[in-house]
Amino acid sequence: MRQFVLIGHDVPIEPDFSLDDLAGGAGRLDALCRSITSAFVLSHGIREDVRVHLVIRDELTITFDGSELRRLNPDERSTAALVRKALEHREEAIGALPADPSPGIEVYRRGFRATLEALEGTVVQLHEGGDSIGEVDPTAISDPVFVLSDHHEFSLAEVDVLESVSDRRLRLGPERLHADHAVTIVHHYLDTGGYRQF
Ligand SMILES: C[S@@+](CC[C@H](N)C(=O)[O-])C[C@H]1O[C@@H](n2cnc3c(N)ncnc32)[C@H](O)[C@@H]1O
Repeated sequence: MRQFVLIGHDVPIEPDFSLDDLAGGAGRLDALCRSITSAFVLSHGIREDVRVHLVIRDELTITFDGSELRRLNPDERSTAALVRKALEHREEAIGALPADPSPGIEVYRRGFRATLEALEGTVVQLHEGGDSIGEVDPTAISDPVFVLSDHHEFSLAEVDVLESVSDRRLRLGPERLHADHAVTIVHHYLDTGGYRQF
């Protein structure tokens, strides 16, 4: 299982944003949706062994499960429509029980810390200042949970959480990348056993 935790600092909790304004009024949901599709979509299929957790404003977490997802298309607008529909159902998430607005999608009343604490696996912060991933044997990262920020830097509160739950902080290369490209590189690194098997 590969998991990705994406932090959406500016995505609205209220689902009244326009699908025509994802980069503005929806708090860069366009970029987050590209990361979601990069995590799941193959040329002719979907990665079933992947889960993505989109943490919104440290209040809600929308979980996407590749083994059950339906109607995930490569375009960001239709993915944003799935996010907006999930937010419409947020009041049905009570305590630890999630709302389940559509197949493979659940909405939890959980912020960043609670989401990370609920996941099993090796928590890896992806950060341009981390250790080089090229020097890490992928088998040493069992059931990886990769944590990425959005267009903002990780907040001080998030850094605090990561210091207590994260196992590693890894860099994918010398350049600062878009998060969706970082997700693709991580898949490639794992698909090739650390760039060794093609
Ligand atoms: C758009 S970047 C954020 C860039 C930064 N916060 C900024 O705007 O100054 C989104 C995320 O992609 C990941 N990322 C980008 N470049 C990376 C790199 N070279 N190595 C590892 N992770 C990277 C990090 O998790 C980062 O928070």
